[in-house]
Amino acid sequence: MKSLSTNQLRQAYLDFFRSKGHAVIPSAPLVPENDPTVLFTTAGMHPLVPYLLGEPHPAGKRLTDVQRCIRTQDIDEVGDNTHLTFFEMMGNWSLGDYFKKEAIELSFEFLIRVLEIPLEKFAVTVFEGDSDAPRDEESADIWKSLGVPTDRVGYLPKAKNWWGPAGLTGPCGPDTEMFYWVGPTDLPPAGSNPATDDANWMEIWNDVFMQYNKKEDGTFEPLVQQNVDTGMGLERVAAVLQGADSVYGIDSILPIVKRLESFEHHIRKGSSEEENEKIALHLHRHGRIIIDHLKAATFMIADGVRPSNTDQGYILRRLIRRAIRSARQLMSEHTQGFCSFIASEVVIQYSEAYPFLREKENDIQQTLNFEEEQFSKALKEGSKQFEKIIESLGGKKEIDGISAFHLYDTYGFPIELTKEMAAEQKLTVDEDGFKKAFEAHQSLSRAGAEQKFKGGLADNSAETTKLHTATHLLNAALRHVLGDHISQKGSNITAERLRFDFNHPDKMTPEQVAAAEKIVNDAIAADLPISYHITTVEGAKQEGAIGVFDDRYASDIKVYTIGTRTDFASKEICGGPHVARTGMLGSFKIQKEESSSAGIRRIKAVVSGGPAEIELAKEEV
Ligand code: ALA
Repeated sequence: MKSLSTNQLRQAYLDFFRSKGHAVIPSAPLVPENDPTVLFTTAGMHPLVPYLLGEPHPAGKRLTDVQRCIRTQDIDEVGDNTHLTFFEMMGNWSLGDYFKKEAIELSFEFLIRVLEIPLEKFAVTVFEGDSDAPRDEESADIWKSLGVPTDRVGYLPKAKNWWGPAGLTGPCGPDTEMFYWVGPTDLPPAGSNPATDDANWMEIWNDVFMQYNKKEDGTFEPLVQQNVDTGMGLERVAAVLQGADSVYGIDSILPIVKRLESFEHHIRKGSSEEENEKIALHLHRHGRIIIDHLKAATFMIADGVRPSNTDQGYILRRLIRRAIRSARQLMSEHTQGFCSFIASEVVIQYSEAYPFLREKENDIQQTLNFEEEQFSKALKEGSKQFEKIIESLGGKKEIDGISAFHLYDTYGFPIELTKEMAAEQKLTVDEDGFKKAFEAHQSLSRAGAEQKFKGGLADNSAETTKLHTATHLLNAALRHVLGDHISQKGSNITAERLRFDFNHPDKMTPEQVAAAEKIVNDAIAADLPISYHITTVEGAKQEGAIGVFDDRYASDIKVYTIGTRTDFASKEICGGPHVARTGMLGSFKIQKEESSSAGIRRIKAVVSGGPAEIELAKEEV
């Protein structure tokens, strides 16, 4: 087997797929733009949804990247050998190009020939079939033709061997997953595969055959093109190649573990050997939680998330606070600045692959220090309050919702923390009661909460496409009205409305709002044509396009023009899709202009009265 560092593995993956005709694209940020169905990028396919649905990608039909991801649904698993909330996913895509045969052959070649993973420790699973899609004998046969023994091919149902959509709707399909033997014996026994013994096989890679689009009514329709979406867990494969027992033993994470161990002299000690053993086990898990959560927090902060009580900010707050609480379990005294001390090792280990971590290091340190101070104060007071609540239970086994809400609202205890603390005392929490108290108080941003559960809209539906085009017109209009300093700081579109964040120091006056609205409506009335062309970052700058000039894109970016190439109402770097003419937007209305955070304003706006069926903007040739 090859022995590769994490940095070498990333490079080997990209080099391999580049040599097979794939364009290397950069990782998208952790917070998805224009997709309200999830808070974080959870897989490499996420930023590619429009292209999986048929929109042409400027870099072509074969793509590869290493995408940074956050998955918090596995948070309770963190502490075991394989689960992380922040992880890196290496992936390759075929957008209507190759399908099962080539995808499986590429996976096999990379794993078995390039990384030299022993075939004796390798197994796969395929989809066993149901009323939505047939049993995937085709994939099974391809694996067998490559030399995978029949008893190492397992069949599993949809719950296991079907992937997607990432939100509630969107591209999905049957998958074939690849596993490495991590069982107690050196080699797996005959007949063993992940369908017979899932605990001893570690999933390392997943090839998804995206041929379906899941609709809001729960049915599946065939996609216009057959795609391949794959995802390989960087940390897991690094652990295999480096012979590490867990993902915490790989070269990029071990130094963070070591840094935590420098607090050894603070670590609690028991009064007997037995007690010490118990403590050691407990510490092991808490140590991993600290490392995982602070690593995730470091990347989130670098991508612009700040601790708050809603959405992404709430997840970040929860991770930091959970890490601090684990640190307090581990150590007899708390050292202020603990989080940023650990995070600075994350920056050291990861800045070669992610140079922006260095640029953001101050931000990361300050944000962590501030949140730690806030929480330390809250924890002290809140723990006293928690004790009082326990005393007042008088034998009851459940903490009522109002008390839990009070801990949240006054002491900043996430409900999950209260639940964990309660569980340690063999108590439960009335979560429904908590939710009721919460809603009554309306302290959660309602818009945020509702929109995420209202139906997946990570699609290219007519309404989201119209709003996306309106966002470009609005961006241009704001530059007219407020000045050229305006740039987009975030965008989020549902079928009902657009939300656009931009930098501006002051609240807009009613006159400014009306003027921006008029510019957009005039452009709609003029029924301007919309098209895109493919160019380079340099070319886009010279033409006067706005948008994120990401220098990692050497070439092949898409620029959408509203109007003509030389006389335009808007010209913006963007993946699309957009409507073909502005007239399709009907009319535009700004509903709200408000503060989003310091120096950032937020506009919510709607369109109405356009046609139900739209035509999409095409490439200008
Ligand atoms: N999108 C697929 C996954 O996350 C590859 O497993």
